Amino acid sequence: IKVLSVTSEAAPLVKTGGLADVAGALPGALEPLGVQMRTLLPGYPAVMAAIGTGETGGKVVLEDADLFGGPARVIAAKTAGLDLMVLDAPHLFQRDGGPYTDAGGRDWPDNPERFAALSWSAAEIAAGALAGWRPDILHGHDWQAGLAPWYLRRRHPQAGVGSVITIHNIAFQGKAAPGKLAGMRLSLNDMTQDGVEFWGDISTLKAGLVAADRITTVSPTYADELLTPEFGMGMDGLLRARAGVLSGILNGVDLAAWAPTYKTTAGKKRHKEALRSAMGLPEAAGPLCVVVSRLTYQKGLDLLLAALPRLLERGGQLALLGSGEAGLEQAYLAAADHPHVAVRLGYDEALARLLIEGGDAILVPSRFEPCGLTQMYGLRFGTLPLVAYTGGLVDTVIDATPAGLRAGVATGLQFHPASADALSRALDRLCDLYATPELWLGMQRNAMRHPVGWDQSAAEYLALYQGLIRQE
Ligand code: ADP
Ligand code: GLC
Repeated sequence: IKVLSVTSEAAPLVKTGGLADVAGALPGALEPLGVQMRTLLPGYPAVMAAIGTGETGGKVVLEDADLFGGPARVIAAKTAGLDLMVLDAPHLFQRDGGPYTDAGGRDWPDNPERFAALSWSAAEIAAGALAGWRPDILHGHDWQAGLAPWYLRRRHPQAGVGSVITIHNIAFQGKAAPGKLAGMRLSLNDMTQDGVEFWGDISTLKAGLVAADRITTVSPTYADELLTPEFGMGMDGLLRARAGVLSGILNGVDLAAWAPTYKTTAGKKRHKEALRSAMGLPEAAGPLCVVVSRLTYQKGLDLLLAALPRLLERGGQLALLGSGEAGLEQAYLAAADHPHVAVRLGYDEALARLLIEGGDAILVPSRFEPCGLTQMYGLRFGTLPLVAYTGGLVDTVIDATPAGLRAGVATGLQFHPASADALSRALDRLCDLYATPELWLGMQRNAMRHPVGWDQSAAEYLALYQGLIRQE
């Protein structure tokens, strides 16, 4: 089976969040099952540098004299374990800054056109524009690829290529003002309730949800939650109407990239000491809790600020790495005045690894969480996850209830509702468990044994693709 994966991020080349980890790991997870997945990715400067040019670089496989306002090429190249098709469109992607923002963090005003162009190229490739390679399935990720199934259906209804859209986070909807229609190669005919129109705006995510043959999201619980007004963010009605083609397939962890260097929890000690000295934290009686996260409303880190005094009273510590909303950044910097709180603002993969490897517990108090990856990394390293009871956090952590402890299956702690009080109580429970070494060690063993790889989910994607091909 040949699949074209369409994504705006893929680790290790370009990453702002979990989407990159997942898009970067999927091809390798599916290859043993006989799926050839090629990845269409924008030619940001970092990506162009990684594939190189000239003799050693990639091969131009498609040219377009005018892709949304400038010339573009698709370059095929294999790098970082990925079979890439890079959309080299300098007028859209050759810019300093992040994939979506300038160096100052402001969204590029032409993001709608930039990712419409990515989606357009994907649909053309799906429809057979490349000599010698054509996918059976077009698989787009999030709003950035939402228009791909839409263009495919509109422009190439007879192409016979199945389409899948995966929702990694419904909060990001790809909205654009209706004035952008023509610039996105859409027309008033597309701007309908069963089309790309969403409360008066254009939504590229909605376009994908309407047009794709199958919709997936990144955990079974989030798939259920998405059907409710509380979590659907205005898309729940549409998703209820399409519930028959919606499924939740849990993300996995790239086990090779996230392999502990220790087999037993005793080996963890060394990492904890390294972490303490890197973050300047003294010895403490309670657990060293870590957070690696975007600092946004979604992640509930304001709740942690409010619950922090409880953790500190109990002799615990916090080491946090993150970046995001200015208010939260300032508040955490202020909290770091306490000797047992250490905060680093910014994005730092090596430090993230040190925190996740060296911490006793990893905190994920999200208000909503489609899947969440850091709690799974925590499991892998015996860094016990303390998580809110929502989305993928429900599906990946087994709570240390009295029954769960007795049965020897608990891998972490869950709290509900998403409030500072409930989080404080969970932190209390965490400290109690930490003070009971036989319970704590048992949980660490359970956590490290818990399957977090791709095996089962890769099989589910395969079944999804096979179902689509049989349908043709
Ligand atoms: P989301 O995609 O919503 O941000 P996930 O838990 O799915 O949440 O994925 C976040 C990914 O980004 C993880 O791989 C995590 O380790 C990484 N990450 C988040 N913040 C940072 C940071 N400040 N520095 C390094 N890595 C980070
Ligand atoms: C999104 C979600 C996160 C998920 C990731 C990868 O960024 O916020 O929960 O793990 O996508 O699917």
